[in-house]
Amino acid sequence: MEKKNIDWANLGFGYVQTDKRFVTNYKDGAWDEGGLISDATVTITECAGVLQYAQTCFEGMKAYTTEDGHIVTFRPDLNAERMENSCKRLEMPVYPQDKFIDAVVQTVAANEAYVPPYGSGATLYVRPYMFGSDAVIGVKPSSEYQFRVFTTPVGPYFKGGVKPLTIRVCDYDRAAPHGTGHIKAGLNYAMSLYAIMDAHRQGYDENMYLDAATRTKVEETGGANFLFVTKDNKVVTPKSNSILPSITRRSLLVVAKEYLGLEVEEREVFFDEVKDFAECGLCGTAAVISPVGKIVDHGKEICLPSGMSEMGPTTKKLYDTLTGIQMGRIEAPKGWIKVIK
Ligand code: PLP
Ligand code: COI
Repeated sequence: MEKKNIDWANLGFGYVQTDKRFVTNYKDGAWDEGGLISDATVTITECAGVLQYAQTCFEGMKAYTTEDGHIVTFRPDLNAERMENSCKRLEMPVYPQDKFIDAVVQTVAANEAYVPPYGSGATLYVRPYMFGSDAVIGVKPSSEYQFRVFTTPVGPYFKGGVKPLTIRVCDYDRAAPHGTGHIKAGLNYAMSLYAIMDAHRQGYDENMYLDAATRTKVEETGGANFLFVTKDNKVVTPKSNSILPSITRRSLLVVAKEYLGLEVEEREVFFDEVKDFAECGLCGTAAVISPVGKIVDHGKEICLPSGMSEMGPTTKKLYDTLTGIQMGRIEAPKGWIKVIK
């Protein structure tokens, strides 16, 4: 298979149109057979539920070329399960989990020429998503839906690659205590756009959101969970019902415990404790683990001991082990790797 002529090493996190996408429609209570198409555009009514009332959710995953030349994805069963939870919370029909995985496999396989080569530093980002596609004008769920999967080759989510980030404590909230923070609803991202642009205008890379009820506990950023390392080398991640259950974070806890022999704690993390941590990182499919060097709370700076020039040592070990598993250099726990080709 001849790869596309793309400058893989210099890709950012952007959209590059690839050849095929998977599409299936839900009508009269059932999904049609679905299949791959070439047309990258979507045509829907002006009154579609997604356009009027933001009835949409999505997933994010990656396909990797392994050291021995296979194309694989990482724990797609967990994306399928999370998408089911998102759909249920948004009154959308579930696309069956086995079919979700099959649609991802088909779409990646059909875009094989866009899967970045091993060692290029890039990956193929996979975006499954669903939206209400028929007309609704009273506030109610759509009765017709479209589920699609497209792919795009991507490089690092943050421009500096693995250079530590400077983030700020955000005055805006991301998710209400009993709201939709735990699902991957498009609306969670729409309402974060002002906050992220405001952070960028003030010179910060990202926002640290606190819990909306008490503003004392660390939640997550707009697109990744937090991971901290204590001075005695414990890995700590915030537990909250209003953060997205990151597949990367859940996997990193297993990596920390089972592969690196570290103690791990998933618990409430008070902002007051943050000044005592040795390392901080943002973890997610897009972010992988992006190190944080500085956290600014209304002018008060918390400088992580790991500094602003490179990842902290434990974060680096976690990063190397996780990416080693994804790229086939390190043996994966059973069921983590789905071979596509
Ligand atoms: N938190 C938010 C708000 C996200 O958008 C993402 C990205 O998917 C994550 C966390 C990380 O989740 P995952 O590791 O499953 O990609
Ligand atoms: C992902 O990591 O897959 C996400 O969906 C996060 C988004 C900010 C790109």
